[in-house]
Amino acid sequence: MVKAVVLGASGGIGQPLSLLCKISTLIDELSLFDVVNTPGVAADLSHISSKAKIDGYVAEKGDFKGEKEGTEQAKKAALTGADVVIIPAGVPRKPGMTRDDLFNINAGIVRDLVVACSKYCPNASILVISNPVNSTVPIAAEVLKKAGVFNPKKLFGVTTLDVVRAETFVQDISGERNTDKVVIPVVGGHSGATIVPLFSQAKPSINIPADKLDALVNRVQFGGDEVVKAKDGAGSATLSMAYAGFRFAESIIKAMKGEKGIVEPTFVYLPGVAGGEEIAKATGVDFFSVPVELGPEGVEKAINILPSANDYEKKLIDEAIKGLKTNITSGVEFVTKA
Ligand code: NAI
Repeated sequence: MVKAVVLGASGGIGQPLSLLCKISTLIDELSLFDVVNTPGVAADLSHISSKAKIDGYVAEKGDFKGEKEGTEQAKKAALTGADVVIIPAGVPRKPGMTRDDLFNINAGIVRDLVVACSKYCPNASILVISNPVNSTVPIAAEVLKKAGVFNPKKLFGVTTLDVVRAETFVQDISGERNTDKVVIPVVGGHSGATIVPLFSQAKPSINIPADKLDALVNRVQFGGDEVVKAKDGAGSATLSMAYAGFRFAESIIKAMKGEKGIVEPTFVYLPGVAGGEEIAKATGVDFFSVPVELGPEGVEKAINILPSANDYEKKLIDEAIKGLKTNITSGVEFVTKA
């Protein structure tokens, strides 16, 4: 039996993500939590004849800070017994904003939701979508450490949308329209220059003309801006993110159920996972997105593909590390210096 929970389930990502979870044959029970509208979203989805039993829990009326007893009870009911918790709660970007601009609002939202996870489902895998991922994952780690329940193998920053974008945008060059065939690792973090697609490590290998490489890398790094601009104030990527978030959650659940050989890039706490220590030493940062092999207990091992990167990519990795250091420190200090 697998119980999945979506926190922030009424939002632009939360609703389509909850729909994908509801129709998944891998999920037996689905709980939705948000500060608004969750009973409606859950009632709507409950009319779909798929197997997952669904419940919606909402914060006590008007409680946006999560301080009222009713909100606590709603979180408790939603999270108890969870195996996988997916967090797309928080505000998205508007044109002209970077993901770091979201920190002031989303840091507190993620902290409080992870506090609830530490109390009501300390063994669950936690998948953080809320931006800035480079900081919200360190926040989640510090909260779990403080509560004495941090299991680095089960805390994931969801960077799958960067992988999906790399797989998609490369088709404009290759002309191939079947993305299932191509695997492109994306490493680093999840914002701008911290996103590093490693096209040299694509499987099967692809040949990208030198004069097209800069533009392609830039499009993967800043592809989110295309959506923010096109939505013109109405938010950022939601549908493609719901697809990516579900794709990652599905991998986590399949591995949990014993499927072997599942590898996904994700933003993890390196010193806490097998194979991560050497990557932390090489990069000088504790959090980094690398391909990890998944198993029943979360990360089985981090795969160090960084030494295989070519010189062009190594320069991008160095640049990513610089940005990540600041983002990670902001996240850690948000909890430790509070
Ligand atoms: P949205 O504003 O449409 O939805 C967010 C939802 O979170 C709303 O329903 C809101 O009521 C809810 N919420 C706010 N505070 C909450 C709390 N304390 N507890 C529970 N729910 C709460 O935003 P959208 O477009 O769904 O984006 C959500 C987040 O995902 C943003 O931070 C965005 O930047 C991020 N994102 C991450 C991506 C990634 O690749 N990791 C890609 C795209 C967006």
